[in-house]
Amino acid sequence: MSGIDNYSRRDWVAEVGSQSAMPILRMTERLEAFRENFGANLQFQRGNITDYDTVANMLRHHQPDAIVHLAEMPSAPYSMIDAQHAVYTHQNNLMGTLNLLFAMRDITPDAHLLKLGTMGEYGTPNVDIPEGFFEIEFRGRKDTLPFPRQPGSFYHLTKVHDSANIMFACRMWGLRSTDIMQGVVFGTRIDAMGDDERLVTRLDFDQAFGTAINRFCAQAAIGLPITPYGKGAQTRGFLPLRDSIQCFTLALETPPEEGEYRVFNQFEETYVISELAEMVREVADRLGLNPEVRHLENPRKEMEEHYFNPDHSKLLELGYEPTHDIKTEIEAVLKDLIKNKSRIEARSESLLPDIRWDGTRRKSDYR
Ligand SMILES: NC(=O)c1ccc[n+]([C@@H]2O[C@H](COP(=O)([O-])OP(=O)(O)OC[C@H]3O[C@@H](n4cnc5c(N)ncnc54)[C@H](O)[C@@H]3O)[C@@H](O)[C@H]2O)c1
Repeated sequence: MSGIDNYSRRDWVAEVGSQSAMPILRMTERLEAFRENFGANLQFQRGNITDYDTVANMLRHHQPDAIVHLAEMPSAPYSMIDAQHAVYTHQNNLMGTLNLLFAMRDITPDAHLLKLGTMGEYGTPNVDIPEGFFEIEFRGRKDTLPFPRQPGSFYHLTKVHDSANIMFACRMWGLRSTDIMQGVVFGTRIDAMGDDERLVTRLDFDQAFGTAINRFCAQAAIGLPITPYGKGAQTRGFLPLRDSIQCFTLALETPPEEGEYRVFNQFEETYVISELAEMVREVADRLGLNPEVRHLENPRKEMEEHYFNPDHSKLLELGYEPTHDIKTEIEAVLKDLIKNKSRIEARSESLLPDIRWDGTRRKSDYR
């Protein structure tokens, strides 16, 4: 088992004026903790997958049966800052995935590519969302076609382009891939970590890299108001980190056929953002934090009230057992964040958004 990362996440978060709320140890210490807990050596290399030779050498050396590809710039606001950030996001995400597809074709054509896409690829159409494909009848003829994608940021567009590239590579070269349309992830732990603090994952709370529940918990932990954007009636699929890892495992245990490109919608349940804010408030109250919920002017351009009904049965059919206890997950996050309160307080400015979809930089006012 081996991994590669160029540590760019740390640089992006520093660039937007923040840091992980959870302190992250040096990689050598984390690898040692992994060896002690799981009795296996995880090899790791610092490298950039936008360099073709780096990717090809890695596949040649390790000859993997499966490749889990997470290595992309994952922030919608970061990709919307200006032309340079949009171009960087496209270069980083599309080049890395293309390099991987070509290297797989030439070196490990039988490997299973498990690639992270996002539920954000679909946008919020006024009809149900299937898992990747739908049957359509048009002017008397029928076909099964990719469901239309209507993403809401240049980051999400990179995922759409990746999906098209991967589907093409499966069709042309017989590669096999699972494209995971993942909902918004939150949480700090998975069961396998036990209570070894050296293995905890980072948790970002800034306007660009903090996802909704993580950011709400960070606000509650330091006594700031919890701030849904706009009306807060946006609906999205969410899942705890532990569910995300459970789903990856299931997908890897049941690889697709040669030439198959399959799409899984991966989330525990859909939630309305303002209801999540209330849930965080309720759990925070129980822990004696008593935060208020205050809506902020929305820095994004998005529908604030809309229909949203995506399918998510394929992973359930493979045996996915959703956590379904989101408040317990929120409590665990809050407890972790309370322990690291000073790290959030030191960068609390980064919680309030000023990256706007219209290109201006202005802090949002309370509504
Ligand atoms: N977190 C979420 O809510 C969420 C939701 C849907 C999809 N996703 C997708 O899941 C994946 C992981 O997301 P995350 O939130 O854990 O992000 P992350 O930033 O923590 O993980 C991505 C990792 O890839 C590395 N990386 C980026 N570009 C690289 C390159 N060119 N070469 C080598 N390493 C590189 C980064 O340093 C980082 O450690 C991403 O592809 C993201 O788009 C995340």
